[in-house]
Amino acid sequence: MRLTSRIVDYVLAQVAPPTAAEQRLIDDTTALGGIAEMQIPHEQGALLTLLAKLVDARTIVEVGTFTGYSTLALAKGVAPGGVVLTHDISSDWSELATRAWKEAGVADRIQQRIGPAAPALAGLPEEPFIDLAFIDADKVGYLEYWELLVPRMAENGLILVDNVLYAGEAADEDATGNAKAIQEVNAHIRADERVESVLLAISDGLTIARKKRAREFPGDRARAEVTP
Ligand SMILES: C[S@@+](CC[C@H](N)C(=O)[O-])C[C@H]1O[C@@H](n2cnc3c(N)ncnc32)[C@H](O)[C@@H]1O
Repeated sequence: MRLTSRIVDYVLAQVAPPTAAEQRLIDDTTALGGIAEMQIPHEQGALLTLLAKLVDARTIVEVGTFTGYSTLALAKGVAPGGVVLTHDISSDWSELATRAWKEAGVADRIQQRIGPAAPALAGLPEEPFIDLAFIDADKVGYLEYWELLVPRMAENGLILVDNVLYAGEAADEDATGNAKAIQEVNAHIRADERVESVLLAISDGLTIARKKRAREFPGDRARAEVTP
């Protein structure tokens, strides 16, 4: 089905409308010009909030803050006392983001780290503790972020990966550059036995991957079968 603007409006009408703080952040980001297209759409924000609530996420890690819209959506879903650790290489939009988080009343549960995400993720504790992760930054870094995050995910934790269709270019046989990087990470996720995943054609494509429980791994299942 081709999504006409009428259908997109209809889809948007099926979620609660943006709050005043969210609408201001959408407007402020739109005023930045073409770069605003990096912001996830409102209905995807609603999905992030819902998924965070579904897994009762206490620790959320985000790669790619930009002006903080997805961070705000995640913070709305984080469990009481929980935290959203969000990473961005640039502080250019931090003021805008912080203002919106304060206005939305969620600033107290967000910590932003400025700098390249890979070393920051590598510095996180190694024991599995992340309940939900959202990857939405430089496409060539996705594979590294994935490999750094999977071992740190709690059992049943969710890794969400954005832009996995890359405007449809991910499906091209002769994909190059960012589209090729996305293609490679999609194939990597599909073959990764540590997770169960599905790629949704929402927005620019969103993969939802669930970290399997230890007992779901083939090796563990085989051991369980011989154990009386
Ligand atoms: C698509 S935007 C994130 C959009 C945001 N999630 C939202 O919905 O508003 C990608 C962000 O990744 C950041 N980024 C790019 N390379 C990065 C890196 N190596 N480490 C951390 N952040 C990076 C960019 O500065 C940019 O803000």
